[in-house]
Amino acid sequence: MSEGKLVLVSLVTLIMSIVARSARFKNFVSSVFSEKVFDKDIIINSPTLKLTSHIPLQFESGNVSTFKNLKQTLRAFEEYGIRARDQNNILISRANGFDAIVHNQLRVIGYFDKLDGVQDGINRNTIVTKKIIKTILSNLTFANYFDSSISNDWKLEIKRLCDSFGYRIDEQSKVLVQIPDHKVTCMFNNPLSRVIESISHLCKDYSENFEIERKPIIKFIKGQLDKLDVSSNDLLVVPGSGAGFLSWQLATSYQNVKVDSIELSGLMYLTNLFAMNYKEKDIRIYPFVQFYSGQKNLENQLLEMHVPLERVKKPENLNPLWGDFTVYMPVSNKHDKIFVITAYFIDTAEDLIEYVKAIEALKKYCKKVHWINVGPLKYGTQPKIQLNGEELARLRKIRGWTDTFESYSNDCEGGLNGYLTDTNSLYQGYYGHLQFHSYI
Ligand SMILES: *[C@@H]1O[C@H](CO)[C@@H](O)[C@H](O)[C@H]1NC(C)=O
Ligand SMILES: *[C@@H]1O[C@H](CO)[C@@H](O)[C@H](O)[C@H]1NC(C)=O
Repeated sequence: MSEGKLVLVSLVTLIMSIVARSARFKNFVSSVFSEKVFDKDIIINSPTLKLTSHIPLQFESGNVSTFKNLKQTLRAFEEYGIRARDQNNILISRANGFDAIVHNQLRVIGYFDKLDGVQDGINRNTIVTKKIIKTILSNLTFANYFDSSISNDWKLEIKRLCDSFGYRIDEQSKVLVQIPDHKVTCMFNNPLSRVIESISHLCKDYSENFEIERKPIIKFIKGQLDKLDVSSNDLLVVPGSGAGFLSWQLATSYQNVKVDSIELSGLMYLTNLFAMNYKEKDIRIYPFVQFYSGQKNLENQLLEMHVPLERVKKPENLNPLWGDFTVYMPVSNKHDKIFVITAYFIDTAEDLIEYVKAIEALKKYCKKVHWINVGPLKYGTQPKIQLNGEELARLRKIRGWTDTFESYSNDCEGGLNGYLTDTNSLYQGYYGHLQFHSYI
């Protein structure tokens, strides 16, 4: 290298090092890269929604929910309105494709009015998805934005997030204010069906209409728990807690016992938090609005369900956690008994053995683990194994479990249970239950 070049290189290096140290440059860099660097590294504590860089005790071995997960989940809720409308519009345009005579007949029989009615129902459901977004955003803001221990970078992230959903943080009154003319754009490839499932779960979990589906589950579980002495030194664990009715019911019924519920899906988890945190008027949901098949008439399709959330408050002893059950650990290892309650859960496993091992791992935190299960064996997507009831019973036995109870309810004269089942429909799905109570 010639002397001239060497001088030039050193000079450039010197200048770069000065520039790199300047605060303004650093801010510039962080503003350009922050979105990428930050959001997946900011961990969300649940249920407080407090931001942190420390992995919560319950999930120390990994896979925790992050700011990025929260963002994407809220985005999926926001996109519900557009995606649902697009789906309905496809039906409108297909019907528009008929010749003039048929088109007119479709109009006369009310087919187009029906599709308009569906759009109306979608619009009303959108009121709920908007409420979910606003409630979660305001809980997030309130938990962090006014807290001096939270860094300004993170506060900026919150501010941007609110802004991207059309809300401004009013620093004086500490509330979110809607920005007029907020436009929604679809960015992610969010499956509409998952969002519909989540908001329908507000009905399944908390509305009178689905009491019939909740009752047999609660009855069986309480029946098993009440055979034993559930005491304050015990812990109830509810994996796959969904929108939260079971963990909420159990925490309400056994107030001296801590209940940890764990949910992996952001959509379900935020729906659960919404149910606990939303304090305004009741909400109304149209769970079957886009069920075009099997309907007798539009009224049935537009069935409105009333969800009285004002009575759903988070009991002190309930700790709803957002994370992966297979890496969950209780905070204390001095429990007497841990009760793991699985309802409509085990067949969701890609790897059932992993679930069983995760339940057995709780033995380190107590003297005895009780496993109370109720639900079908309808294995989900790409399961590694699909055990039948007897195989599962033998597996429990050879792994050291002792059954105190096992039964099947699969009698169509009354032993079956719906799952978001539309009882007016010409197609109705029902499940049989495998119920067992086992301990190790
Ligand atoms: C966390 O779990 C989800 C769902 O099982 C999975 O898709 C994701 O890859 C996991 N993340 C990490 C960091 O293990
Ligand atoms: C969450 O936000 C709602 C709506 O602003 C509020 O009513 C509720 O008290 C908040 N809950 C928590 C736990 O912050």
